[in-house]
Amino acid sequence: MPLVELRGLDDVVAQGRPAPPCIVVVFGATGDLNARKIAPALYNLAASGLLNPNTVVLGVARRDRTDEQFRDEMRGAIGEFSRSPLDRDLWNEFAQRWYYHVTHADRPLEYLALRHRMDELSRRHHAGASRLFYLAMTPDTFGPIARNLREAGLSESPSPESFVRVVVEKPFGRDLLTAHTLNEELLQGFHEKQIFRIDHYLGKETVQNLLVFRFANSIFEPLLNRHYVERVEISTLESTGMEGRRGPYYDRTGALRDMVQNHMLQLLSLIAMDVPTRMAGEPVRDEKLKVLRSLQPMNPHEVAASTIRGQYGPGPDMPAYRQEEGVARDSQTETYAALRLSIDNWRWAGVPFFLRTGKRLAQKASYITIVFRQEPIRLFYNMDCDLRGTNRLSIRITPNEGITLVCDAKVPGPRMLLRPVKLDFGYQTAFESASPEAYEHLLLDAITGEPTLFIRNDEVEAAWRFVDSIRSAWDTAGQPPLVGYSPLSWGPHQARSLLLDPYKDWQTP
Ligand code: BG6
Repeated sequence: MPLVELRGLDDVVAQGRPAPPCIVVVFGATGDLNARKIAPALYNLAASGLLNPNTVVLGVARRDRTDEQFRDEMRGAIGEFSRSPLDRDLWNEFAQRWYYHVTHADRPLEYLALRHRMDELSRRHHAGASRLFYLAMTPDTFGPIARNLREAGLSESPSPESFVRVVVEKPFGRDLLTAHTLNEELLQGFHEKQIFRIDHYLGKETVQNLLVFRFANSIFEPLLNRHYVERVEISTLESTGMEGRRGPYYDRTGALRDMVQNHMLQLLSLIAMDVPTRMAGEPVRDEKLKVLRSLQPMNPHEVAASTIRGQYGPGPDMPAYRQEEGVARDSQTETYAALRLSIDNWRWAGVPFFLRTGKRLAQKASYITIVFRQEPIRLFYNMDCDLRGTNRLSIRITPNEGITLVCDAKVPGPRMLLRPVKLDFGYQTAFESASPEAYEHLLLDAITGEPTLFIRNDEVEAAWRFVDSIRSAWDTAGQPPLVGYSPLSWGPHQARSLLLDPYKDWQTP
C-alpha cells in the first residue's frame, strides 16, 4: 500500500481548502457570461461537493424576473453549457438557494434594498456574513458599483471571520491610462487584496501545470535559460471568427488588446518567471511582475521590424472580417498579431520569444514550444540526418492537453539513421478524472481566498506599458502595414519573417 495515494484533483482541492459558506452575488445575472460560464461553474462545483452546502447565489440585474423565472433560465443555461450533464435532483436541491433581485447598478438607493435581501437570504440559509460579488458587466459599471456597494456598507467585512471579495473580468482598460483609471475606481470601494481579476487562461489545467512542471521537478528548470534555449514560441490560434455577435466589441479591441495584453503575456510570464520563494499569491505574482517589467517598450522602428498585424479576408463560404456583423467596412482592426520580443534579464537575455494569435486560422490550438539549442558539436552530422528534429518541449494548452518532449533516436537497423521521437504526457491518458472548467477553479479560489491565479493590478499595468508601445506605433506610424490572410490558413506568410531565418517556420500544433 503506497504511503500517498494518487487522488483526483477534486479530492485534493476539497481536502486542502474547504469552501466557507457565503453569498455569491452575480451582477449582470441575465447576461451571457453568467449563462455560459458562471452558473455552470457554480453548478459543477456543487455537483463535485466543493461548495459549502449553505452557499447562496443571488442574481442581480435590472430586468424583471421572479426567483422562479431566474431558476428556470439558469437550469436551461446549465443544461446547455455545463461540462457535466444536469442532474435533475441535484439541481432542484441547489436551485432552492438561487434567487434574483432587480437592481439598477447605477442607482445608489437600490443598494439598501439589495443589502436587506442579502442579509435576509444569508440568515435563512445560514450562509454567514461573507460575500463574493461577481461583476459580470462591462468595465464602465465597475466604478459606480464599487462606490454604491461601499456606500451601502457592503464592501467591508462585518466580522474578522468573514470576507468580502469582488471578482472582475477583462478588459482591464484599453491602455495604461484607462486601466489605471479603472483600478482607481475599483479602489473607491475595495482594497487591492479584495479584488480578484480573472484571466480565464490561468484557470486552465495545463496553464497551472506550468508551475508544477517547472517547480516540482528538478530536471527541466536548469535548462530553461539562455544557455540552453534557442527560442520560445507561444501560439493561441482560433478557427472561429466573429460568431456570437462579437463584431462590435472586437472591432474596437483587436487581437493585441484582446489576447496579447492578457492571456499571452500571462503565459509568457509563467514560462519565463524565476522560482518564487513560496507557492503563494504574492511571491508568484512578484516573479511574474518582474518578467513583465523586463519587457522593454518598443520604439516605432522596433515595432516595424518585430511585429506583424493581419486581418482575414474572404474564404469559401466565409465572410471577410470587414463583412462580419458589427464590423466597419473599412476596419483597420487586426484579427492576427505576431511579435518577436526579448526579456531583458539575466536568465533570458538574447533569447527571442515569438508570440502569435489570430482568428479564423486553420485550427483552434494554444501551445507553447521551447526550442533548445543544438548540441555544440554535431557528431551525427553526416549520417542521413536530414530528418533530424530539434530538441523541443511542447506544452499543449488546448486541445489534447499535455506535454511532449521531442528528441532524436536511432532508427533500428544497420545504419546510423536518426529520427525525432516523442516522449509524451497526455492529460486524458494520465489522469482518469475530467479536467474542471477554468471558471470552476477560479471561482473556488475566489471563495476560498486563494489569489495566486488572479492578476494583480501592477501586472495589468506593466503589460499595458509594453503593449501600448506597439499599439501607438501601429496607430501613428502605420508600420508595419495591415496585411491580409486567408481564412483557415496559419495566418499571414509575412509572420515567418519575424523568425529571422529562412529555414525556420512557426511550430504547428
Ligand atoms: C477571450 C477573448 O478572452 O478569450 C476571445 O476575448 C477569445 O476573443 C477567448 O476567443 C479565447 O479563449 P479560449 O479559452 O477559448 O482559448
